[in-house]
Amino acid sequence: MSDLRAILAAKRDGGRLSDEQIAEFISGYVSGDVSDYFASALLMAIFIHGMEEAELVAWTRAMLESGRVMRFPRLARPKVDKHSTGGIGDKVSIPLAPAAAACGLAVPMISGRGLGHTGGTLDKLEAIPGFRTQLSAEEFERCLERTGVALGGQTPDLVPADRKLYALRDVTGLIESIPLIASSIMSKKLAEGLDALVLDVKFGSGAFMVERARGEALARVMLKLAASMGVKATALHTNMERPLGRTAGHALEIEECFDCLEGGGPADLRELVCLQGGEMLRLGGLAKTLDDGRAQIARSLDDGSARELFARVIAEQGGDPSCLDERSKLAHAAHKHELRAEQGGVLAWRDLRAVGHAICALGGGRMKLGDVIDPAVGLVFPRDEGERVERGEVVIEVHHNGRGLERALELLRGAFELVPAHTPSPLVLATIAQER
Ligand code: URA
Repeated sequence: MSDLRAILAAKRDGGRLSDEQIAEFISGYVSGDVSDYFASALLMAIFIHGMEEAELVAWTRAMLESGRVMRFPRLARPKVDKHSTGGIGDKVSIPLAPAAAACGLAVPMISGRGLGHTGGTLDKLEAIPGFRTQLSAEEFERCLERTGVALGGQTPDLVPADRKLYALRDVTGLIESIPLIASSIMSKKLAEGLDALVLDVKFGSGAFMVERARGEALARVMLKLAASMGVKATALHTNMERPLGRTAGHALEIEECFDCLEGGGPADLRELVCLQGGEMLRLGGLAKTLDDGRAQIARSLDDGSARELFARVIAEQGGDPSCLDERSKLAHAAHKHELRAEQGGVLAWRDLRAVGHAICALGGGRMKLGDVIDPAVGLVFPRDEGERVERGEVVIEVHHNGRGLERALELLRGAFELVPAHTPSPLVLATIAQER
């Protein structure tokens, strides 16, 4: 191996790492030949100086190639997925995957667990009785072939470099770096063997990237990485200044997904499912235009085909599809507390991170890996942002099991204001296409 100190010195001084140095570092770190102290110093230098475009491509490729890259040679359908940077109440993937598959795509979706203030798709899916997300490679492929959808978690052999690097970044305060985030997300998504990818990059107080400009910069870097690996991609820049839909919390969100799959549910959830699904169909070559794609997705929600397909996915992944009809089979909290307006005014969300932390306080989130989640607890938001609320009316329903209510209420009271006037910002701020 080359002199590790020379690699470190090059990056410390703002230089560029060669492809060989990157490949050696990544493989050495995964095998254990490179120590954590060396890796954390290198990550800090990258955090400070960033990476050139070609350097980041080599870094991402080395991460991707650190493990198994999925290929589905028997699958004739276009393979298209979406990734969201996540936020409060973001449950779009759950109705989107079966809707896109009902329209002819294959959706091999590897998702993550919730950590901190945002929830994770895997945890939400596990609120469906019996639903298994820890699938072996064979089970994942079988489910994808049989239904057009597989909803799984990262297995140890998929991008092991990210698993180790992410854990190290987490404990050394090195998460918030655009090249490190972009390479982490894209190495995992590109390991799915995709033809195309839709990215939902959220901005606002409930998002991972609070500032809009940084969210856009991240989106552009991820689009370039996809292009460098021959994967078509589009990024949507969407609003996370208010919760998505009317619920946040695992089982509550699953019910809302079921509503969406029945052609109902909140308008913003349906809008993002149709928009992202429409773009997935367009990129995958199954729709001529975005409008055509949106219309196909909307039809699949309204005619029951997306719901029927999701029932098959649930059964295939070990779950009980009868909960689609019998909602009482989902977990429900024992108590409901109504947080009422102390004065009249127009609802304006101010701090969605506090909303996420309120759910954690109730036991519905994880502050560290390994924490156990209570799927039944969560919040219902009966009012839309920008809507007038009179004194004494309910602003938030808190579904709880007797744990953390006081702390949750304290956090929630600081999360919104009732003001004389407020115009909510749009749901979709920009569509960013891949540069040719
Ligand atoms: N999500 C990821 O998968 N990786 C990051 O670095 C940040 C968010």
